[in-house]
Amino acid sequence: MNFQKKSVTDIDVRGKRVLLRCDFNIPLDKKTGDITDEGRITASLPTIRYLLEQGAAVIACSHLGRPKGKWDNSLSLAVVGRRLGELLGQEVKMAKDIIGEDARRLAAELQPGEVMLLENLRFHKEEEENDPEFAKALASMADVFVEDAFGTVHRAHASTEGVSHFLPAVSGLLLDKELYHIGGALENAARPFVAVLGGAKVSDKLDVIINLLHKVDTLLIGGGMSYTFLRARGHEVGLSICEEEKLEYTRKVMDEAEKYNVRVMLPVDIRTSREFDNEEAVVYPVNAIPADHMGMDIGPETAEMYADVIRNAATVIWNGPVGVFEFSNFSNGTRAIAEAMAACQGVTIVGGGDSAAAVRSFGLADKVSHVSTGGGATLEFMEGKDLPGIACLLNKE
Ligand code: 3PG
Repeated sequence: MNFQKKSVTDIDVRGKRVLLRCDFNIPLDKKTGDITDEGRITASLPTIRYLLEQGAAVIACSHLGRPKGKWDNSLSLAVVGRRLGELLGQEVKMAKDIIGEDARRLAAELQPGEVMLLENLRFHKEEEENDPEFAKALASMADVFVEDAFGTVHRAHASTEGVSHFLPAVSGLLLDKELYHIGGALENAARPFVAVLGGAKVSDKLDVIINLLHKVDTLLIGGGMSYTFLRARGHEVGLSICEEEKLEYTRKVMDEAEKYNVRVMLPVDIRTSREFDNEEAVVYPVNAIPADHMGMDIGPETAEMYADVIRNAATVIWNGPVGVFEFSNFSNGTRAIAEAMAACQGVTIVGGGDSAAAVRSFGLADKVSHVSTGGGATLEFMEGKDLPGIACLLNKE
């Protein structure tokens, strides 16, 4: 995929109405409806501030949750509008609809230096259907489209792809940053280049593994997926997650890695438990995992071994926790990875959902080069797929 896309800094937005696609798909407390993690709102601030300083009028838009084309007050973006206004220190005019009378009137009256927010795009089923009429109606409110919703660029929806057929489309500063870091690592990483892959299943990471095998020097495997790898090497893994149907594939990956001279490292010890809870935690070498125990985290020897590889890397990309870090007894491995990333002098990228949450929970997010705001988008980016929300933007000249 071509990452050389025109950015908002490459065009003149003075006096223009800018349709800005943000990813305000943030977690809300189920009982109170309060925002529980505002990371994606703060991540949107640099682009909004830049546009306002340049004298543009900003029509921000986003989805929230999966209302499936139906109006749902519990998924209104009003809560985001209020918080965005507090963070910006200025009013954010909240539209009562998306392409209706209220939104169109507010957009037409919006002055340079002002911000408004449309209601949840997914209240219209046409958004996810990438309906051209819906995209055209969205686009008709603005002069320029700025794509800054990195977390949603893997979706070909009206507000992420469709509008680019009606407006000049460029990337925002957040998207630029994601492209620079993740795209940079995938295209031209400084070596040694190390990837740390964790998370529950091998099957979730198949395409990432294939794509990275041709790029990295070392692959560190942890988390639920490591038990399938260990099983493929002939170890008994007790009650640990193991995808029997992926054993053959996993063996092929290891053969392929050898062919490409990629070092695939597996755990040498595992922290285990008899139940999936935080009660007991016993460490066993990988050749002695008892039949009634399940792996819950990498063991201390593995953690030290992996940390050493990470600290000495020039580029590290990490996706997926290496243990059940939500349980205090099984957070040591994931913490050791995060701390080693923080200590590494090279470029350190934390890709996506759970690993980003882990780094934040350890208070280390500002000690790494980049924490991606994407979940599924980061994964598809690492898989080397074409992302419609990026492909549709104007190319740099
Ligand atoms: C995300 O949270 O990963 C993005 O906002 C995309 O949301 P979706 O998976 O509902 O399309």
